[in-house]
Amino acid sequence: MNIDFTQIVPWIPYLLGGIGATLKLVVVSILLGLLLGTLLALCKLTNQPILKGFANVYTSIFRGTPLILQLVIIYFGIPQITGYDIGAYESAVLAFGLNSGAYVSEIIRAGILAVDKGQVEAAQALGIPYKQMMKDIILPQAIKNILPALINEFVTLTKESAIVSVIGYMDLMRRADFVSAKIYASFEPLLFVGLIYWSMVFILTSIGSWVERRLRQSDQR
Ligand code: ARG
Repeated sequence: MNIDFTQIVPWIPYLLGGIGATLKLVVVSILLGLLLGTLLALCKLTNQPILKGFANVYTSIFRGTPLILQLVIIYFGIPQITGYDIGAYESAVLAFGLNSGAYVSEIIRAGILAVDKGQVEAAQALGIPYKQMMKDIILPQAIKNILPALINEFVTLTKESAIVSVIGYMDLMRRADFVSAKIYASFEPLLFVGLIYWSMVFILTSIGSWVERRLRQSDQR
């Protein structure tokens, strides 16, 4: 066995720089996914057949094909048909945002539907208008179902973001590969970024359990 962690010491700042690169991708993607997911969830909950159909087909496509395929179609395929080159970062944000939108729409849809039907019936019996009912009664309860699942989505995207190394975006994973090639050793840089991914996910899941605890406390009041 020849493991020597001292070789990666000069590369540590470079590897740590990957945290920013990965976060910049994940945070922007999740925001895009949230926006898109909310719109799609609203489409799914209307009685408008065209909107509903569109949202369902969209979700089916983006959940039914591998994310890495969507990523390379955007990065290599779009330039071929449009003639415009698209950067690695832009492609990655687009692929992750579009993909996440499909998952987030299901999280939000299910979260809203999980609110007891009696809540809607009671609001209607009291003559509360639809908008106000949604804003003051249904959504505050739906948030309890939605938030923990959203944090989960954040965790998934953080780990899945490692696939962007295939299109050359210099995220944590790609930097580890790069350092491996420089020092002729793979184990140390890979283990190092593995530890970073784990720490990021650990922080996110800790925030998740804290949020969940807080929401449960407010339930008991
Ligand atoms: N590995 C899965 C795929 O390729 C991950 C999908 C992304 N998941 C998500 N929750 N956005 O399809």
